[in-house]
This record gives sequence, C-alpha cells and structure tokens, in this order.
Amino acid sequence: MAKRGVKEVIVVLVLIGVRSAILALPATDQNEVEVSESMARNFLNELENDILEINYNTTLQSWNYETNITDDTLDMRNDAVDDQSRFLKVQNNSRIGLTVTS
Ligand SMILES: *[C@@H]1O[C@H](CO)[C@@H](O)[C@H](O)[C@H]1NC(C)=O
Ligand SMILES: *[C@@H]1O[C@H](CO)[C@@H](O)[C@H](O)[C@H]1NC(C)=O
Ligand SMILES: *[C@@H]1O[C@H](CO)[C@@H](O)[C@H](O)[C@H]1NC(C)=O
Repeated sequence: MAKRGVKEVIVVLVLIGVRSAILALPATDQNEVEVSESMARNFLNELENDILEINYNTTLQSWNYETNITDDTLDMRNDAVDDQSRFLKVQNNSRIGLTVTS
C-alpha cells in the first residue's frame, strides 16, 4: 500500500517537472518549439491517461479484495499490481526518464 503511494507521488512529481521544463523553453524558433511542445503535450496526455487508467484498475481490484477477501480477488489484485509495476518500469526506461523507487 505505502509503496504504491510513493510510486504514484513520484510519477506525478515527475510529470509536473516535465511540464514545467516544457513551459520554460525560450520563445526562440517559435514554430519548432510549438511543434515539439504539442507533441510533448500529446505524449504526456496519453501517458497521464494510461497512468490514470492503470492506477484506477489497481485501486478497483484492491477495493474488491479488501471488501471481499477470496483467493480470486487476491489474484486479481496481484495481477493489477503487477501490471502497474510493469507499466511504471517501462516508463522508467522511456525517453522522458521517469524514476521509480521501490
Ligand atoms: C466475492 O468474489 C467472488 C470471486 O472470488 C465472487 O464470486 C463473489 O460474488 C464475490 N462476493 C461479493 C459479495 O461480491
Ligand atoms: C484490471 O486488472 C484485472 C486483473 O489484473 C485485469 O484482468 C483487467 O484486464 C485490468 N483492466 C484494465 C482496464 O487494465
Ligand atoms: C529506473 O532507471 C534508473 C536509471 O536508469 C535505474 O537506476 C533504476 O533501477 C530503474 N528503476 C526501476 C524500478 O527499474
């Protein structure tokens, strides 16, 4: 539980950091900056949606387990947590360089 919370906070902080870095670009080469800025925004928006979806699923499966403790719901929750970890690990290796502590 606590471990997952830390990961979520770090991912959010990194996303905010990346955003600020993009916004802080100087206004030279306006066209080029605008193109790469909108590409970066799209990339971040998609990434955020994926993170929200996968976090939502983990929360949902955890809730199912906590309100209905069975082997099935435990398996579902563990699968969702594994999916989330795998996803965050992939992001960690991607070009925006998310750092994930575990
Ligand atoms: C609890 O989970 C099992 C699956 O493991 C499901 O069959 C059952 O309907 C659930 N019970 C409730 C009250 O949601
Ligand atoms: C949510 O997690 C369950 C259990 O791991 C999995 O079967 C399901 O496909 C997941 N759904 C989404 C939308 O990721
Ligand atoms: C994330 O990447 C850093 C540097 O690339 C690495 O040191 C760290 O072990 C990675 N973390 C995970 C969870 O893969």
